[in-house]
Amino acid sequence: MKLKNRKILVTGAAGFIGSHLVDALVEENKVIGYDNLSSGKKELVEHLEDEDNFELVVEDVLNKEKLDEEMERCDMVFHLAADPDVKVGAEDTFVHLEQNIIATYNILDAMRENDIQEIVFTSSSTVYGETEVIPTPEDLGPLKPISLYGSSKLSCEALISSFCHTFDMRSASFRFANVVGPRSTHGVTYDFVEKLKDDPTELEILGAPPGTTKSYFYITDCIDGMLFGTRNAENIVEYFNLGSEDYINVKQIADIVCEEMGLKDVEYDWTAGSEGDKAGWKGDVKTMLLSLEKIKNLGWSPKHDSAESIAKTVRALLEPK
Ligand SMILES: NC(=O)c1ccc[n+]([C@@H]2O[C@H](COP(=O)([O-])OP(=O)(O)OC[C@H]3O[C@@H](n4cnc5c(N)ncnc54)[C@H](O)[C@@H]3O)[C@@H](O)[C@H]2O)c1
Repeated sequence: MKLKNRKILVTGAAGFIGSHLVDALVEENKVIGYDNLSSGKKELVEHLEDEDNFELVVEDVLNKEKLDEEMERCDMVFHLAADPDVKVGAEDTFVHLEQNIIATYNILDAMRENDIQEIVFTSSSTVYGETEVIPTPEDLGPLKPISLYGSSKLSCEALISSFCHTFDMRSASFRFANVVGPRSTHGVTYDFVEKLKDDPTELEILGAPPGTTKSYFYITDCIDGMLFGTRNAENIVEYFNLGSEDYINVKQIADIVCEEMGLKDVEYDWTAGSEGDKAGWKGDVKTMLLSLEKIKNLGWSPKHDSAESIAKTVRALLEPK
């Protein structure tokens, strides 16, 4: 897919990943950011206020009429708007159905009505569930997500595939590992930094030691990989894993955060005790490492490993605003 001189609708543009994506896209494209500011913040795109190539529309993707109106001005969609909180699905079973699946259906149907053929979608490693195939390749199947969030992302991928085949569209879906970096507003690194700012002597950690073991990757790698994969997508319905090439556990993350914050002898208070479940919550995958062979074979690799990504993120989060 071409990424130059396009008119692109970016949903979730005022969010963590969306705002970084917009920074990259505005260099060569016109971008309409579309965000209801539920977890996103205007401040994250404030620096683009005087940018001719950017405009922010504060609206909900569940508002189909407004979506139709904005799509009339576009020829491509990056769909990032979602409820990204995996935990919430165990308490509220409707939220991911509405915010992720119905929202994605609205996007696709508005694209169909406006004859827009190209969509890029931010999926997730959670579509794989708890697999023993590590590193996990894109063509693993059948997929068995263990969270309602993971199942919603897989459902979105299925909807995208069916719309592509029925209405002559093309798509690239990116199954991300955990993305970290400046402007993040959720996730384990952000959570630890916030907790330790409040109390530098003790850190509450969800689960049992040493916690889950997962791959973390830096936001610049995320945006770079997503743009590379979009430009190099070969199939009508394309999937790419994106992450770093290693994984670390939650205890290692806590150690990196404490070191970067200059804190010694912090007491780790594991919520599940020392022998309990390593998962932090119901639906939390215990081991995640994605195979990057597919995108690497096309010529792209991430620049940071998991530990570097966490350390850089802590430093960025501690910078004065
Ligand atoms: N951060 C990660 O580690 C990660 C990993 C895998 C996948 N993803 C996916 O990447 C995308 C971006 O995630 P993020 O980490 O930047 O989260 P985020 O919460 O910072 O961004 C989501 C954005 O979507 C907006 N939004 C939510 N519901 C909306 C609605 N109904 N209408 C309009 N806007 C709405 C929010 O206000 C927010 O700005 C999401 O689809 C998420 O599921 C993120």
